[in-house]
Parts: sequence; structure tokens; C-alpha cells
Amino acid sequence: MPKDKFDEYVENLQNIIYEEEIKEYNERIVSLYHKPKNWGKPPDDEITISKTYEGPCGDTMSFFLKIKDNNIEKANFLTDGCGASVATGCQTTLLIENKSVDDAEKLDAEDIDAALNGLPEDHKHCAELAITTLKRAIDDYHISVRFKKIKN
Ligand code: FES
Repeated sequence: MPKDKFDEYVENLQNIIYEEEIKEYNERIVSLYHKPKNWGKPPDDEITISKTYEGPCGDTMSFFLKIKDNNIEKANFLTDGCGASVATGCQTTLLIENKSVDDAEKLDAEDIDAALNGLPEDHKHCAELAITTLKRAIDDYHISVRFKKIKN
């Protein structure tokens, strides 16, 4: 097959797959899954607190938060889970960046689900994975702040 025909064939195939994914999830979830913002672990000196949690489904999520004066300046994530977990991790970082720790703590799985325009029923638990990991990271942050205060 000539190269331009082959490229066209691959592009058509990718479009078909993309359309199928949108039917199964939705456009927002699929776009975050394919191009997740805030993906990856930043350098250690840019992390105030990090947390990895394994959910009941066996997938893990990690958050890396840079916090200054109780404000989340930067949030990154990693997951080895499904496409929906990539979207929920990404969406969570987008919702908490430039928010106070207190505001981030108030988020729940329904907020993540709503921001993603609704996860499919069989993937609602992926938002739970993201929110549980976030809550545990914030718990660790509070403990570390308290510990520093005791030490000072
Ligand atoms: Fe485990 Fe999506 S199936 S997080």
C-alpha cells in the first residue's frame, strides 16, 4: 500500500476508534484520556505531598501536590488504571489547582463525575479512586503540617 494511502487508512481507523470511545464515554472524558493535562511526577523539590492509593478494583492513582500557604499551586497525577481513571485523575487536578486545601477537601466523587459530564455507570467508581487518593493526600498534608508545628 502506498504511504499516503496507508496514512489515510490509519487516520480513518483512529477516527472510528475515537467515535466509538465517545459513544461509550463522552467527548470530555475521551479528550482528557488522550491528552491528560498534569500527567506525571514532577521533580521532588516541586512536591509538598504525594500519595498513592490502590482502589478496590486493583488500579492505583497517585497525586503530587505543591502547596504553599494552604493553596494548591500545582497538582499532578499518575494512574495505571483504565481510561476513565486517567480522565478522573486529570479532572481532579484541574479542579483543585489554585484552590485552597480546604476547598479541595470539600470535593466529592459527584463533583468529578459532573465535571466530566457523567461517567458511564460501570465507571463511576473511577471517580471514587481519584477522590479517595486526594483525601488521603490531604490527610497526610495536615499531619505533616501539625508535625512541623510540634517540632518548631
Ligand atoms: Fe479501576 Fe477505572 S476500573 S479505576
